[in-house]
Amino acid sequence: MMLTKLARKILKSVTPYTPGKPIEEVKRELRLRRAIKLASNENPLGASPKALAAIREALPGLHRYPDSHAFYLTRALSRKLKVASDQIIVGNGSDELITLALRAFVDPGQEVITAKPTFLIYRIAAQIAAARLREIPLKNLRYDLVRMRQAVGPRTKIVFIANPDNPTGTYVTKTELARFFAGLPKRVIVFLDEAYAELADAKDYPDTRRYLKTHPVIITRTFSKAYGLSGIRVGYGLGPRELIQAMHRVREPFNVNALAQAAARAALSDSAHLAATRRLLRREKPFLYRGLAKLGLKAVPSAANFILFRVGPRAGQVARGLLRRGIIVRDLRAWNLPNHLRVTVGLPSENRAFMKALKEELK
Ligand SMILES: Cc1ncc(COP(=O)(O)O)c(C=O)c1O
Repeated sequence: MMLTKLARKILKSVTPYTPGKPIEEVKRELRLRRAIKLASNENPLGASPKALAAIREALPGLHRYPDSHAFYLTRALSRKLKVASDQIIVGNGSDELITLALRAFVDPGQEVITAKPTFLIYRIAAQIAAARLREIPLKNLRYDLVRMRQAVGPRTKIVFIANPDNPTGTYVTKTELARFFAGLPKRVIVFLDEAYAELADAKDYPDTRRYLKTHPVIITRTFSKAYGLSGIRVGYGLGPRELIQAMHRVREPFNVNALAQAAARAALSDSAHLAATRRLLRREKPFLYRGLAKLGLKAVPSAANFILFRVGPRAGQVARGLLRRGIIVRDLRAWNLPNHLRVTVGLPSENRAFMKALKEELK
């Protein structure tokens, strides 16, 4: 769509985000009775029953504004993560925290470093903030922290690192991250986006809370993935007090709605639901890897709940074919990976339906 002349000039350079197609939209447009969404790395088990109960309990209070400081949720996070409450900020999804960090810390023309391709919001938010963007290519589909570290210069304000990364699912190790931090100037904020942290079980996946004491870091997590609450929008950030205070100053007063606060707090206490989510992944990821290998497709080892795989030049066509069969995967053209697709690990029946449809599409 044409951009109005009234828009800020900078918006011309902003690439809009293309979300995974919603189930209802696909059903409506393709006149399907059923669609399976494996496109947005959601939790196929749904939200925790405890979270759903908490939402119902919070409904009678909806005529009141939510708690601006999300006191109870922040306290629950503080206890669970052993991080002081004033080092925590809650956001309308962890996406919001990316925007808040740019708003709080980056002046127009200052530099933001990230990888390419990676989670698209860093780039979009940086463009809107009129920041200078340096995108360092992935190396073998992994963050190249050595080159990203070399790219840090006098104008660098924030470095965004998705760990695990999206859309690749790869992660940076404890050692790689420690090397990145060694000698890094304290004027550079390192934004560690850990949207899939609860699902990453490798031994050398870093516990980044140790950097809270030594460096200006912002660590973000979300309730959208492992906790199955994408639709209600809630995530959180951890950081040194001064950084978190600056982010509070630029947020809207009621950025996290009352239902989201209640749901997140309850979800946090439901360790059985999280364990079931992890169990599902442990069982189903190998099934998908085996199936993709049988079809001769190369898949990237993932530390998260999705798998990136190479189809070749027909990838877009295959994605459209899957869609006609009611299976929504992520076409990666927007990431400039036109030969690849990304599939979220679903329920056993969904994964089997996906593999069957993929096999037929590739015939
Ligand atoms: C790496 C990464 N960061 C952040 C997010 C945003 O999650 P939310 O805003 O739902 O918390 C996502 C969602 O896909 C993601 O993949």
